Amino acid sequence: MEVQQTINATRSWSQYRRYQGKSVGFVPTMGALHQGHLSLVRQARKDNDFVVVSVFVNPIQFAPNEDFDNYPRKIRLDLDLLEKECVDLVFAPSSEEMYPKEDSRMNQTWLDVVGPITEGLCGISRPTFFRGVTTVVAKLFNIVQPKRAYFGWKDAQQLAAIRQMVNDLNFDLEVIGLPIVREDDGLAMSSRNAYLTKDERQEAKIVYQSLELAKSRILRGETSVKKITTEMKLLVEDSALSRIDYTTIVSSQTFRPILELENGQDILIAIATYVGSTRLIDNFRLKVPQF
Ligand code: PAF
Repeated sequence: MEVQQTINATRSWSQYRRYQGKSVGFVPTMGALHQGHLSLVRQARKDNDFVVVSVFVNPIQFAPNEDFDNYPRKIRLDLDLLEKECVDLVFAPSSEEMYPKEDSRMNQTWLDVVGPITEGLCGISRPTFFRGVTTVVAKLFNIVQPKRAYFGWKDAQQLAAIRQMVNDLNFDLEVIGLPIVREDDGLAMSSRNAYLTKDERQEAKIVYQSLELAKSRILRGETSVKKITTEMKLLVEDSALSRIDYTTIVSSQTFRPILELENGQDILIAIATYVGSTRLIDNFRLKVPQF
């Protein structure tokens, strides 16, 4: 497995594979890898001749009050895991390599997907997050030039924004979304789970349980989104350590809010919650059943 830190070396590596007619699958990550990331790597391994993984904690997707400085960085462990998955190249640039300005937040070119995909849900409490993600992912796509890129459904809104960007700007690649990987008690795997204390970790399963509750209400015929999301909220806030950011149901394609569920709709039930000071997000995708 090769590890490259420069844009030039990574681009040449990838261009050479493309020139040989080989496919490159790409998994962008911020490191602190878990089984969710590894499921993306394994799928990329199956689908492509070569696999590239990037490990880069992207400063421009963090607001000044967020956890950029504390975000877990475990490059040695990450490289060991990726080696075992037979990854061909890891691109692990420094901040200066990606953003040569003195302060990465002074980045002058932004790629901003506008509209309901980025405005609601996490876009409300993290208004600059998605443009930070789409900007860095566009840069990474330009550097790695993959045939396929892999993202998890846990970050459903991020995935939708990236798909929109790829469609709107005619990037020559396929975006593949893969299912959420969960712990035994349902908690969605996330690098941020490492922030949870023992008690918080115990409580964090409430996030998954609230999604299960919403699903069971829908499968029994409840159509009022307000009723469903209020029940989710009450369940979560019953636990002393948790505080809701949002519970919502939107169209899983457009991310437009839904007030009343209709037969056959493809919906996303989504939640963001603070457990202690850690913000966790999760979602279920569902087709509203015919009654
Ligand atoms: O999902 C992540 O880990 C990041 O948002 C991504 C896509 C690697 C961009 O920094």
